[in-house]
Amino acid sequence: MHLFPDAVLFITLVSTCAASLLSIPLIGANRPSVNFKRFQPHRAPHRLRASTRVKKLLGLRNNIHRGPKPPDSWKTGPIVDFECMRKAEKPPVSRQDIELQRQNNMHYGKINVGTPGQEFNVTFDIGPSPMWILSIQSTLVLNWEKHQKYNFESSSTYINKGKFFQLKYSFGEVGGYISQDSVSVAGLTVVNQTFGEAIANLDVFADTVIDGVVGLGFRNISHNNETNLLDNMVSQGLLEAPVFSIYISRLGRSDRPSYLTLGGANPDFFTGGFTFVDLTVPHRWQFQMDRIQLFGGKYIFGNGGCQAEIRFSSSMLVGPYADVDRLNAKLGAKNSSLSGPYVLYEFDCSEVDNLPGVEFIINGKKLSLSSKDYVVKWFQEGSITCLSAFRGRKDFTEVNESLWTLGHVFMRGFYTYFDKANSRVGFAKAKH
Ligand SMILES: *[C@@H]1O[C@H](CO)[C@@H](O)[C@H](O)[C@H]1NC(C)=O
Ligand SMILES: *[C@@H]1O[C@H](CO)[C@@H](O)[C@H](O)[C@H]1NC(C)=O
Ligand SMILES: *[C@@H]1O[C@H](CO)[C@@H](O)[C@H](O)[C@H]1NC(C)=O
Ligand SMILES: *[C@@H]1O[C@H](CO)[C@@H](O)[C@H](O)[C@H]1NC(C)=O
Ligand SMILES: *[C@@H]1O[C@H](CO)[C@@H](O)[C@H](O)[C@H]1NC(C)=O
Ligand SMILES: *[C@@H]1O[C@H](CO)[C@@H](O)[C@H](O)[C@H]1NC(C)=O
Repeated sequence: MHLFPDAVLFITLVSTCAASLLSIPLIGANRPSVNFKRFQPHRAPHRLRASTRVKKLLGLRNNIHRGPKPPDSWKTGPIVDFECMRKAEKPPVSRQDIELQRQNNMHYGKINVGTPGQEFNVTFDIGPSPMWILSIQSTLVLNWEKHQKYNFESSSTYINKGKFFQLKYSFGEVGGYISQDSVSVAGLTVVNQTFGEAIANLDVFADTVIDGVVGLGFRNISHNNETNLLDNMVSQGLLEAPVFSIYISRLGRSDRPSYLTLGGANPDFFTGGFTFVDLTVPHRWQFQMDRIQLFGGKYIFGNGGCQAEIRFSSSMLVGPYADVDRLNAKLGAKNSSLSGPYVLYEFDCSEVDNLPGVEFIINGKKLSLSSKDYVVKWFQEGSITCLSAFRGRKDFTEVNESLWTLGHVFMRGFYTYFDKANSRVGFAKAKH
């Protein structure tokens, strides 16, 4: 139970509550009746927290929320009614789901920025990307008229930060003003969220309905020190912990969208328990994978330990060429005539239902990915090619050569829990 909200939130509540003070009913029938009316605010909340007598009176457990110390404005604040506070206070939610749609391999969902809210489709980044959205003042964007643009002039909560930002992605650059405003996601409203208002924009979003990016990952202090949306939700008392989970629906299931869950994991999307593993590289969703195996260990790949990283921005499973080639051969795949940035393999489509599960051994536990997930059907000119999602990387110049990058195909099989609070990641069998 969370009795006391954030100090700042509390002040807002006191002021909205004052008008309806008299209409608030008293404590429930079975509770001792305590009249806290007219207690002195500066003497109350933080001392109440420590008072066993009060906790006893209210029937509270010991682990009540300890928010930050109230600001000095408390001391001059209005006299508040304790009952009113209890009724009006909104405890932090344990989790909140956001529906995600997919376009060009990117997942996007809706957010509202400003007061009144302006709606945007943004793609959620599990990495350290700061938040940015297109500005009404942007000019250099292809398909400008198809996008939503943030209009600071029509928001009563907009704050000009008087700074500029510039971000470099692998596919281009984006830059503009740094602004501050309220941002709502799935009914949770963060105030004073800092974000980039993009004037000069990369054209990667030109063909999409995506108007910006919201980063959820660990912030990169060498980029800027602006707190990200998820961390702000926690510090403003909206969520209990900086964690999120992602469910990716099967391709072709238009009836079942994908979901981002903020603040926790939703049991509708997984069965069994989570296998957790600690992150090995600060600020990245990278961990030690024991090995990959087939048929309960008859064939083993990456033995002795390899590194793996969850990538929400890519769809396939990419690993070192030698391992991937041997894995595909053991699965019965052949070199594909199709080519791409990685070495591709394909199956005989009539065989795909009989393929074995590929077993990922993580933290000593076996996570099995079925052919439903690792065979990707490619439709072209009336024919179907059954491609293997396991792709080989021959170019080792950029990343550690033992690294496996696990994209949507992996996350579709395993509902993924991103735990910033404990620097770990968890996997549970996805429920489709
Ligand atoms: C968001 O994307 C949907 C398509 O999924 C589109 O219909 C809608 O107009 C877009 N909304 C905004 C605010 O861009
Ligand atoms: C938001 O910013 C405004 C103006 O800087 C400030 O008055 C207010 O206290 C801030 N609220 C929070 C919750 O940080
Ligand atoms: C943080 O930013 C710096 C500079 O842009 C970059 O070199 C570094 O790789 C980033 N760190 C992470 C974890 O993304
Ligand atoms: C961010 O904060 C850290 C520690 O407070 C500081 O060392 C660093 O220079 C800051 N970075 C920027 C870009 O302001
Ligand atoms: C793919 O081709 C290479 C040589 O071009 C060969 O060494 C390898 O075994 C082939 N892989 C499979 C899975 O057939
Ligand atoms: C690559 O990863 C391995 C396994 O974690 C590690 O021992 C090695 O130092 C890494 N190499 C580089 C260049 O980062």
